[in-house]
Amino acid sequence: MEIKKINNTFLPLRLGVNIDHIATLRNARKEGFPSVIQAATVAISAGADMIVCHLREDRRHIMDDDVKELRSAINKDLDLEMALRDDVIDMSFKVKPDKVTIVPEKREEVTTEGGLDINKNKSKLKDLVMEYKKARIEIFLFVEPDIEIIESCAQLGVDGIEIHTGSYSRARGKDAIHEYKRVLIAAKKADELGLDVAAGHGLDYQNAPLIATIPYIFEFNIGFSIIANSIFYGLDDSVKRMKDIINASRR
Ligand code: PXP
Repeated sequence: MEIKKINNTFLPLRLGVNIDHIATLRNARKEGFPSVIQAATVAISAGADMIVCHLREDRRHIMDDDVKELRSAINKDLDLEMALRDDVIDMSFKVKPDKVTIVPEKREEVTTEGGLDINKNKSKLKDLVMEYKKARIEIFLFVEPDIEIIESCAQLGVDGIEIHTGSYSRARGKDAIHEYKRVLIAAKKADELGLDVAAGHGLDYQNAPLIATIPYIFEFNIGFSIIANSIFYGLDDSVKRMKDIINASRR
């Protein structure tokens, strides 16, 4: 990664832009456009620090060739989100993204529901952590904001975690404050245990600023809200606006 956390209290937040839904739109008509490479290029010139894509089992949006092309086309970090499946794991060692984020995956889900079950996957994850370290690829686990889960992640020796903000982003009123506190406590614990802390899922222009005040979080990964907003305001403006509002919360 190009920026490492020092004492990240006042460091600007890195923004990873997830471009899966550019591929969703392209695949709807199978005409080969809009281009994910063009989207990644525009997002980077608008200030994205990283491009994120999820190679799902059913290849419903991002395809194998997209990942290969992104790897050679972009000059910023590439984060490959993937389930613990042999085909995508093999692919990741060939393509060598800067970072992999391991997510749970169910064929029938619309998007990633819930965090990874660490206990169920412990031995596979242990082996993978060693292999990714050897390959100099960072490994993050996408997890719920839960202290026990975070302790298990630290024991595995992963580089970091991405906190699932889905429950926070769906909650309203008092429930949203409760979910925010869960994220805050989890992020603080992870930071104390030496893990880098990212956050993502369901973050948008309204709910991201509060989570951006959490100093232990160094990176946001945001897809749907930015891509949806770009239909009306363009991708360049949508990325810039998100960067501006999340970094305004850090000051
Ligand atoms: N982080 C992870 C690990 C994800 O699986 C997703 C959804 O693909 C995101 C972030 C982005 O979520 P959203 O599209 O809701 O911004």
